[in-house]
Amino acid sequence: MKNPQLRLPFFFLLLFFPLSTSSNPTTILFTTLGRSRYGFDIFSVPFTFSSSSSCLHSISIEHHNELQLTDGVSVNYNGFFPSNSSSLLYISERNGYCNVYLDHLSLPQSSPLRREALQLPSRLQSPLLPTPSSSSAFRSPPPISMKDRPSLISGDRLIYVSTHEPSGSPRQSWVAVYSTHLPTGRTRRLTPSGVADFSPAVSPSGRWTAVASSGARGWSGEVEELSTDIYVFHTRDGSARTKLIEHAGWPCWAEDSTLYFHRRGSDGWYSVYRATITVGSTLSVASVDRITPPGFHAFTPAASVGAPGIVAVATRRSASKFRHIELIDLRGGSNVYVEVTRPIAPYSHHLNPFISPDASRIGYHRCRGGGNGNPALLLENIKSPSPEIFSLFRIDGSFPSFSHDGARIAYVGLPGVYVVNSDGSGGPREIFSGNAFPTAWDWKRKGVIYTSHGPEFASESTRVDIISITLPEEDDDDENSQPIVKKLTTGGENNAFPSPSPDGKWVVFRSGRSGHKNLYIMDAVEGDSAALRRLTEGPWSDTMCNWSPDGEWIAFASDRDNPGSGSFAIYMIHPNGTGLRKVVHSGDGGRTNHPWFSPDSKSLAFTSDYAGVSAEPISNPHHYQPYGEIFTVKIDGSDIRRLTHNSFEDGTPTWAPFFLEPSDVAESLQGMERCLFDDCHWLTIQAQLKQLTPAKGC
Ligand SMILES: *[C@@H]1O[C@H](CO)[C@@H](O)[C@H](O)[C@H]1NC(C)=O
Ligand SMILES: *[C@@H]1O[C@H](CO)[C@@H](O)[C@H](O)[C@H]1NC(C)=O
Repeated sequence: MKNPQLRLPFFFLLLFFPLSTSSNPTTILFTTLGRSRYGFDIFSVPFTFSSSSSCLHSISIEHHNELQLTDGVSVNYNGFFPSNSSSLLYISERNGYCNVYLDHLSLPQSSPLRREALQLPSRLQSPLLPTPSSSSAFRSPPPISMKDRPSLISGDRLIYVSTHEPSGSPRQSWVAVYSTHLPTGRTRRLTPSGVADFSPAVSPSGRWTAVASSGARGWSGEVEELSTDIYVFHTRDGSARTKLIEHAGWPCWAEDSTLYFHRRGSDGWYSVYRATITVGSTLSVASVDRITPPGFHAFTPAASVGAPGIVAVATRRSASKFRHIELIDLRGGSNVYVEVTRPIAPYSHHLNPFISPDASRIGYHRCRGGGNGNPALLLENIKSPSPEIFSLFRIDGSFPSFSHDGARIAYVGLPGVYVVNSDGSGGPREIFSGNAFPTAWDWKRKGVIYTSHGPEFASESTRVDIISITLPEEDDDDENSQPIVKKLTTGGENNAFPSPSPDGKWVVFRSGRSGHKNLYIMDAVEGDSAALRRLTEGPWSDTMCNWSPDGEWIAFASDRDNPGSGSFAIYMIHPNGTGLRKVVHSGDGGRTNHPWFSPDSKSLAFTSDYAGVSAEPISNPHHYQPYGEIFTVKIDGSDIRRLTHNSFEDGTPTWAPFFLEPSDVAESLQGMERCLFDDCHWLTIQAQLKQLTPAKGC
């Protein structure tokens, strides 16, 4: 073993916290799709525009003067300039939770160097809402929730989205708009109960707030477009709520009588639209114009009172595989498009633009790229809602599981199976190069990991087999010692999701050998040819099984309520085939998956759409299942608790009987390519597209 001294703390903990006592703190570890690639920082670039009457209007972007405005360490996104560009409001995920920050920037007036803003000693950063350690006298919402889309009005009132209040019904988003008076912390919910409001935008006068809302209609599982409508209400108290525009998202105001938004048209393209509004005691729409034509996607518009007729948008065009920011000049007879980010960073996705009210800068976020000396995280600590019960981490990998002494973690890379020390030392080692999922360690035989080899999300007849991988002994210093791979199933009929019994004798798994995916139990050492018993039977899919540490139960996900529908609930059954019962479901059409028992066998961690989607999916990189959050539930189905709050896809939790100190663990091996994430897969660019309209100078 390479780092014996680093293993000691885990032994220590095991000695002091015997596994049989339920009150000892434990650890939950889960996966977030693409997260380790999201080194988001907020950048901005100055621009000027002229408006002489004698020639065409023109816009000039100072591409060489792009500045990084945020810290280069945290995940920072969705910026907003409250007044001019001397301060920046944004979302930051740092120290294990999400908060709204306000930075005071001293931007250089002329010819700034790139990144100069970062080096300024006068830079002040402050979280605007309570932190997990701040006093409870502050009457703001509890710190652990997702915050998003902040606006600051009158210098001291923050309007933003938060997920801290349960929606009250399964599969209804917890996203609602709140207003917090910063000096007192007094917070008011502006969204009616039972409703989800996304993407709030405050009008220039501050009087109105527009949101993208699904109203009382709820959510029916959409993962691309949420089919929202734009509602407006009084920013003051949420009153006079009115549906303004059907089928519209991401509102932004140029003035109180002009609102831009995006919509995916029946032609398949995302386009930006402008609504002209009649302002009275309520608002009504006088007209709606489509601003961007079919042929490319334009979305997440941003306007500025200081730049009437100029709109910033994100686009996907055939000229680039990346999402870029452009300005659209609507002041002439025809729209003129001006590229903002492609000349600066052509091979990065740029998201969610914003313009300063004085129309001097355009902001956006993108991955900052590597080379800044910040180590990638193997384990990112997330603030636990119950720190006395478990610490909470996300891992840079999928389907993690701990070895039973807590010293090592196995995970899959799709492809590849990896093992890494829990303290990150030595970096990950690939122990199997094929595509495999998930991972589970044998309880008795040290260094034995079960997985299944083959494609995931495949049909019953697909060749997938369960294998065990035996790692070389830890004191084996022979560099050439290789893991021993043994195939435990023989038929190849989609045998997957192995989970061993605590006595080390059996493995439960799902198999498509009957034509349907059901659960079977086989001999852990010799496989299905030595001993095989069928555990469940029926024309549906039983899968993702997990054997309880006390040996009494096997939890699994099943679509037996509605076979083939894609809707999964979590069930439990005794290993002898009795006692079948449903534990938890998020409702008709819902998805509750990947159950994993707590060390005391009394609860399950799982991933689910129970809290719906927390942001317009198009405002993020691609997520197959943007609703995925991690929850726990008692095995009697009571006490459902939400552990994660974000707009990303969280999944595949594991729950271990020891306590990892709640702090980040860096990956000691570097060099992994950062910033490699996909844009939303449904933003497909068809052939035969219009080229950019070149900007004409005067
Ligand atoms: C920007 O706005 C702030 C706050 O309103 C003000 O104090 C500051 O002087 C302004 N800066 C510039 C360059 O206009
Ligand atoms: C099946 O297993 C459960 C849990 O161990 C036990 O309580 C029950 O008596 C068993 N039933 C049969 C028929 O063996």
